Amino acid sequence: MKSCWIQCLLALAALLVACTAAVAWLNLRGEAPAPQLWREPGTPATVSSALLEKGAYLARAGNCMGCHTAQGGKEYAGGRGIETPFGVVYAPNLTPDAETGLGRWTSDAFWRALHHGRSQDGRLLYPAFPYPQYTRVQREDANALFAYLQSLAPVSAPNKAHRLEFPFNTQAALAVWRALYFRAAEWVPQASATAEWNRGAYLVQGLGHCAACHAARNAWGGSVEEGLLRGGMMALQDWYAPALGGTHAGQQDLVRLLQTGVSAHASVSGPMAEVVFRSTQYLSGADLQAIAVYLQSLPAPPTPAAPVARATDTRLGAKLYAQHCAQCHGAQGEGRPGAINALAGNPAVNLEDASNVVRMVLQGGYPPATAGNPRPYGMPPFSHQLSDAEIAAVASFVRQSWGNMAPAVGTIEVYRAREKRQH
Ligand code: HEC
Ligand code: HEC
Ligand code: HEC
Repeated sequence: MKSCWIQCLLALAALLVACTAAVAWLNLRGEAPAPQLWREPGTPATVSSALLEKGAYLARAGNCMGCHTAQGGKEYAGGRGIETPFGVVYAPNLTPDAETGLGRWTSDAFWRALHHGRSQDGRLLYPAFPYPQYTRVQREDANALFAYLQSLAPVSAPNKAHRLEFPFNTQAALAVWRALYFRAAEWVPQASATAEWNRGAYLVQGLGHCAACHAARNAWGGSVEEGLLRGGMMALQDWYAPALGGTHAGQQDLVRLLQTGVSAHASVSGPMAEVVFRSTQYLSGADLQAIAVYLQSLPAPPTPAAPVARATDTRLGAKLYAQHCAQCHGAQGEGRPGAINALAGNPAVNLEDASNVVRMVLQGGYPPATAGNPRPYGMPPFSHQLSDAEIAAVASFVRQSWGNMAPAVGTIEVYRAREKRQH
């Protein structure tokens, strides 16, 4: 009896050691041995203005500033909290300050952070920093980004400690997560595809980190079938980032949407408005075209098999629409060309998931102000004017009129969306 216990304990201990070793190995594989990580602070090496320009452009493509700048804070000095289901992770200072920023970093250390998700001191980084996508960024692009960041004015701003709950605040938990869901990846262009398609794929899968929002996630925040961009729920923000494959938008519409925030049939709002505002509006026409070509090559997500639930009574919805919505969106949902998006045939209105439509009617919103659309029209909030049942009725009406064919919205969905807003 006794010897059995001892044997069991020994076996358990051996298993534990083996698991720890496996997790450690999975976290270290592929890393170059002993790169040069530290340097004496001082004036950065002189680099060509072409390299700095390239770095600045790539920083836009990756929207580095968006996360690494606190509201009202100095650019790139960090301090913005990124909310995750496990707590808040604060983005650090990326300016070349020697004590609080990247002033003692080498390009090897920077590469390791981007490619392997490991900080200069060896600490594993949280994937709130989208290195699961940035890992595909090529070394020469990483070097340009680093040169650009090192050319900024140093700002002394100490990094904030993350606010994560146990066990998510431990490196061990992060190591296990990484062993399961992260793998450093080299960018390999597809030989059979055009240079344009490959450029689009590189931007979307790498710096653009579109999958950070547009891919489904499991309960542990690992992304599922990332490459297919089949659409994902941003649980905390209560926004649905739709599937990017198989949309019926033409290439020019997609380019316009990413460049200006509006196109003939769509407009972006919420988190996507920020992406367009800070990032994609600055991309070159050729890069946007490449992104559109790549997105259009992605397969359409499978269509739901269940028949669409029709609203039982459309009279209330029709009445409310005529009263509150038609003056902007048109009696037939046709919108006002060049000013207000149509609701008829609008892909966002036809999504199976109604979250975005409900929150838009509750809260209203603005597309971003961009060079191509400097004074966007806004949509007023209706949360104080209309009840849950009325919002459900009008949302169902726009989702099932003028050829739109999306499931009706239930009063309970509106109630839940309101509840979430209050927390
Ligand atoms: C979605 C938000 C987000 C975006 C976009 C983002 N970062 Fe970060 N970044 C973070 C967070 C959060 C951390 C902190 C992770 C941690 O401490 O575990 C971080 C950490 C880093 C680090 C490690 C610094 C250190 O002190 O360890 C580097 C380097 C970095 N980011 C560079 C970049 C670059 C370059 C870009 C653009 C290509 C970028 N980041 C875009 C959120 C972001
Ligand atoms: C921070 C999260 C986030 C990131 C990163 C992001 N998106 Fe989005 N995106 C959204 C959300 C949420 C929506 C839905 C709201 C809307 O339609 O404006 C959306 C909508 C869109 C739409 C409109 C879809 C439609 O049919 O109306 C396109 C196109 C799009 N995103 C492309 C991209 C591309 C390309 C990238 C990468 C360069 C990207 N997004 C990165 C969150 C994100
Ligand atoms: C004052 C003009 C105005 C009124 C009134 C108005 N809207 Fe809007 N609506 C807009 C604008 C502008 C947008 C684009 C906002 C954005 O992209 O953030 C929009 C966006 C939307 C969207 C999201 C479409 C998309 O492409 O993502 C829906 C759904 C919508 N409106 C429904 C309604 C309903 C239902 C009503 C009435 C209850 C209504 N709107 C009343 C101007 C209006």
